[in-house]
Amino acid sequence: MAEKEHHNKKFYHLTRLERLAQLKAEMHLSEADMAVLSGEKSLSPVEADHMIENVIGTFSLPMGIARYFRVNGREIPIPMVVEEPSIVAGASFMARLSLGTGGFFAHTTAPEMIGQVQVLDLEDLSSARMKLLAVKESLLAEAAKVDPLLKELGGGPKDLEVRLISESPIGPFLVVHLIVDVRDAMGANAINTAVERLTHRVEEITGGRVLLRILSNLADRRLARARVTILKNDLAFDGFTGKDVRDGIIAAWAFARADPYRAATHNKGIMNGIDPVVIATGNDWRAVEAGAHAYAARNGRYTSLSTWEKDANGDLAGTLEMPLAVGTIGGATRVHPAAQANLRLMGIDSASELAQVIVSVGLAQNLAALRALATEGIQRGHMGLHARQVAIAAGAKGDQINQLAEKLVQEKAIRIDRASVILKEWRN
Ligand code: MEV
Repeated sequence: MAEKEHHNKKFYHLTRLERLAQLKAEMHLSEADMAVLSGEKSLSPVEADHMIENVIGTFSLPMGIARYFRVNGREIPIPMVVEEPSIVAGASFMARLSLGTGGFFAHTTAPEMIGQVQVLDLEDLSSARMKLLAVKESLLAEAAKVDPLLKELGGGPKDLEVRLISESPIGPFLVVHLIVDVRDAMGANAINTAVERLTHRVEEITGGRVLLRILSNLADRRLARARVTILKNDLAFDGFTGKDVRDGIIAAWAFARADPYRAATHNKGIMNGIDPVVIATGNDWRAVEAGAHAYAARNGRYTSLSTWEKDANGDLAGTLEMPLAVGTIGGATRVHPAAQANLRLMGIDSASELAQVIVSVGLAQNLAALRALATEGIQRGHMGLHARQVAIAAGAKGDQINQLAEKLVQEKAIRIDRASVILKEWRN
């Protein structure tokens, strides 16, 4: 373990090819997986043409690996697909700080998704509700017919609720919620097919007219939860004591707890960790985003998804709870070659474990942002990386990129116009 840790510590000093070689050995990956992960043989235009409409090509993004993540006792390399500098470094750094207390501890609720059926044109809403609830079991049995395999795997329709919407721009109506355990799928297809199947019976039973039949992205029955403790002493750096940093992080969180303007940015920082892994595994990041923000507003006022507090030892304790509708089977998770390779890279074969890892990365990312904001400010850490992007945009190549970035940071002028002038001077 000590040797492995030592090995990992140098990951960012390795060349890109050395990093690939290290991961290959560590996670026992095939040559084919390596070709996909390096980007040499990822999604082809021909494969892409089968995925969406009017395809002309593909679009690439950088994929980095966050290190030091220990989730429920297992060390896991985290693939992150994202364009923003500092995210992978920030997550890795916080994951390293968490090792003092064993890393992240995460769990998930059952993978239950909600499908909604809107029932219109009813006078007797309460009676219609009773009639539906009275035959709940037969409605569940009907919905189960769409996917017998899901049922065999322990999933399938689990419950049915009927909600009365008493006020809306078109007056009152009923909403049926079908709750389906979707096992290792994201679940959109399973849910949408199941609710469509119920249309006829719901109309027959209520005498109403069914309009919308679609899943809800407020997946509040499919939650992922993580917790972490950072030793106070591990938080100290430069001129900041551990206590300063801990209390600063708690005050930063309190700001997000109390103010929606801050909560939006605070939660964006969490999604900086969540989305890159959701994308790396071929999952629907818009669904995850929608679920996260709706959950953050579930009590009527938008607030922070995470909590940060001081524990009995004076250490910093963080938690994150949010809906996470991600799958390891079906959709792009199966079709995109990198999605499958990334699951093998992480050694993950169930949607619940994937969600546990993702929620842990979200918590780490939140901590990285709050730690920076509550101490030296976000710009210092960002500057070096941002300067590299500016240098590249100005046309720097090879060794020039780092040299130019350093000069821009020294001058505190990380601007493309200044970068172009310096480059021109050097070239002359
Ligand atoms: C930037 O991408 C994310 C942060 O704004 C998050 C936060 O403010 O907590 C730094």
